[in-house]
Amino acid sequence: MNDARPAAVTILAAGEGTRMRSKTPKVLHGLGGRSMLGHALDAARGVDPAYLLVVVGHAHDLVSAEVCRHDPAARPVVQQPQNGTGHAVRLALEEVPDLAGTVIVIPGDAPLLTADTLRTLVEQHQTAGNAATLLTASRPDATGYGRVLRDEAGAVLAVVEDRDATPQQRLVREVATSVYAFEADRLRAALGQLSTDNAQGEEYLTDVIGLLVAAGRGVGAVVAADWTETTGVNDRVQLAAARAALRDRLLRDWMLAGVTVTDPATTWLGVDVVLEPDVTVHQNTQLHGHTVIRSGAVVGPNTTLTDTEVGADATVLATTATGATIGPAATVGPYTYLRPGTRLGRGAKAGAYVEMKAADIGDGAKVPHLSYVGDAAVGARSNVGAATVFVNYDGARKHRTVVGEDVRIGSDTMLVAPVTVGDGAYTAAGSVITDDVPPGAMGVGRARQRNIDGWVGRRRPGSAAAAAAERAAQADAPARTDGTDEGDAP
Ligand code: UD1
Ligand code: CA
Repeated sequence: MNDARPAAVTILAAGEGTRMRSKTPKVLHGLGGRSMLGHALDAARGVDPAYLLVVVGHAHDLVSAEVCRHDPAARPVVQQPQNGTGHAVRLALEEVPDLAGTVIVIPGDAPLLTADTLRTLVEQHQTAGNAATLLTASRPDATGYGRVLRDEAGAVLAVVEDRDATPQQRLVREVATSVYAFEADRLRAALGQLSTDNAQGEEYLTDVIGLLVAAGRGVGAVVAADWTETTGVNDRVQLAAARAALRDRLLRDWMLAGVTVTDPATTWLGVDVVLEPDVTVHQNTQLHGHTVIRSGAVVGPNTTLTDTEVGADATVLATTATGATIGPAATVGPYTYLRPGTRLGRGAKAGAYVEMKAADIGDGAKVPHLSYVGDAAVGARSNVGAATVFVNYDGARKHRTVVGEDVRIGSDTMLVAPVTVGDGAYTAAGSVITDDVPPGAMGVGRARQRNIDGWVGRRRPGSAAAAAAERAAQADAPARTDGTDEGDAP
């Protein structure tokens, strides 16, 4: 019987990642809403190891903080200085001196690696009873990778680094992926024999393979089913390629689960996003964080949602939303900005050029055009006329506005908070509402209009406006004398 649960997984994450040319340590660069290290931790956790060790070194305070944040049960081990991948694993094993059984090693810079592949590696390693089993990959372009050397019968002999390889060895397409399964005691013994006699003057973990072969121990290799999964990221070009590959993988899984993605090439989403069957995502849409889209909803084009829930059958077009909850059958957009704490009820509407923040919009309530709603509640079925502003800020503090149910807020109303508009009330267009409006009342807060007759003719003589007014006066004059319109004047 195999114990498919490894004793430990060790993640190598101490290197600086010079080729990134970044202040940020390489493994903290991200894709799909997660750091490369986060992806490695997830894959490692997926095989349920007794110990999860992460070798940190360069900027180890930052990298350790990410380890603790992402997986508090994982243990950082400091490697100072960074003397190579072999040195890194040696220090990790010193941390757990009694460890016996299978030890998995993975690099911190292979974010596409899956727990499934690690599981296959562990199974094959344990079934064969090997001292070491390498995960290898057959790459169309092996440049930069260690090459796997085999004898005529196909048995693994050694791994030679790209920089140390002969031109003949560089022709080999089968590469080392930096993913291994080892038996702890065999690994310990071999690590003690590593030299630094190579192009980089470092202790190479890859040399353990040659040492174990020379000692007559069982060394095997598992060729990865999908070579792209084992791709290492050393620079930002490779990071972008890995990001696109992850995006493609996520979208493929969602499409096979029943989601329509009209343009996968311009659709981006994080690993924590959830899409229900019969969701449609249109082009140029980005879904970040813990965004959830419920069945039948249509999102996009040109939409960016972060930590936002979209209810069943809702429509969200050309919208940017963060921390919002959009109810079932609600409609949002275009050109709508929903900020944290916005909640739209069932069938509610946030229309064109509307911004909301900490706004609770009741079932069937509508804010159709050109409005700002901040720190407010709007009751069910109420309508907020175009260009209304919820004036929530007095320059020092934020205040709250409450609008009841079945209210009609006239266009261009300023609701100066704190203020309450009761159920069934109206406000007159253009009002500045500073006092509460009782239920059923009409709130009017505006100056009366007066017209100054003949002002244009007197004050703007000779202007186009004066000429137009003159034409209107003449056209009006005969109508006065034919007698048919008499009596309608106010
Ligand atoms: C490494 C392998 C190479 C393999 C490739 C796969 C070695 C010597 N080479 O090369 O055979 O084909 O990965 O992507 O193992 N690290 C430490 N401490 C150190 C040095 C590195 O923790 O002292 C970590 C790095 O942070 C990184 C990982 O080990 O996450 C691999 O190091 P990197 O420098 O990227 O090695 P490669 O040149 O890619
Ligand atoms: Ca690498």
